[in-house]
Amino acid sequence: MDKQLTHVENQHVLHSSIFNQTLRDWQTLKTEITPRNLMYPVFIIENDDSVEPISSMPGVSRYGINKLKHHLQPLIEKGLSSILVFGVIDKLPKDPLGTNADSQENPVIRALPSLRTAFPTLTIACDVCLCPYTSHGHCGVLFPDGTINNPASIQRIKEIAVSYAKAGAHIVAPSDMMDGRIGSIKQGLAEHDLRHKVAVLSYTAKFASGFYGPFRDAAKSQPAFGDRKCYQLPPGSTGLALRAAKRDVAEGADMLMVKPGLSYLDIMKQVKEKYPEYPMFVYQVSGEYAMIYHAAKAGALDFRSALSEVMVSLRRAGADVIISYFTPVVLDWIQLKSKI
Ligand code: PBG
Repeated sequence: MDKQLTHVENQHVLHSSIFNQTLRDWQTLKTEITPRNLMYPVFIIENDDSVEPISSMPGVSRYGINKLKHHLQPLIEKGLSSILVFGVIDKLPKDPLGTNADSQENPVIRALPSLRTAFPTLTIACDVCLCPYTSHGHCGVLFPDGTINNPASIQRIKEIAVSYAKAGAHIVAPSDMMDGRIGSIKQGLAEHDLRHKVAVLSYTAKFASGFYGPFRDAAKSQPAFGDRKCYQLPPGSTGLALRAAKRDVAEGADMLMVKPGLSYLDIMKQVKEKYPEYPMFVYQVSGEYAMIYHAAKAGALDFRSALSEVMVSLRRAGADVIISYFTPVVLDWIQLKSKI
């Protein structure tokens, strides 16, 4: 017979809450991963019938629209509900203003109507940026001395966002980090009567990160000179991240994002706690993908348990939606689990 227990002693027993799977699930419901918690980034190229594997991101490819539709179809059957689209150009010329970001030949502009028709239930977000389309590879319009021309940049970003919205994007997601771009885009959408029909997902706290390397290869958007430290946030700057969130909320952002994920969990938690009424997105970026992929391939860690743990940690830190190149694999896991 046990001694008479105090309440405190009872509270200190945790194992009684986790002795089977159902009990463990009850402790972790807020970190569940369902298809609604995932957004899948995809790269669209000019040639409609090509697939180009990306060597720095094994398992990820750039697709022409016809191939992309084939790639997406089974994923949508597994519950995929949203994608984030990036355009990549090779043959179309790049110039200082990024003219081909929203020309009629732009692969995203061309693909949107066909994606909307093929997948009526799919929510389509478009990354809005200049870097894949500018000759200098920077995310804004530059003055002759190479510094950012802010008014010209946010004017251009607004035009591109409106073009994607007109072509069928449900969401426009500016990743350029120029001051004032959310307000400018909102203004542009209003001028074209799209304010009520298109949402703005702000890359709010986007850090100048070493984890974007494989993406720049994937999107062919490496800066021709210099780096992005004058417009992306310094990794240590919690204050700027919070100020950016405050500014984007004030300018009318519909949803907020922190990027990258794993190294910025504390930032995400703080932004979510400050703005709980806004859906919080996190971008598990190309370098995070490569890191897990290669570590698992080298046998250093078990792929499924490591990736699941990272996904749960992103949710635990406040992410409502995880933007991940691993989405196809995770959709498979979700499906298998629901069959058990
Ligand atoms: C472009 C952009 C980048 C990413 C998304 N949009 C790269 C950058 O800012 O250098 C990174 C995504 C990834 O690494 O997966 N502005």
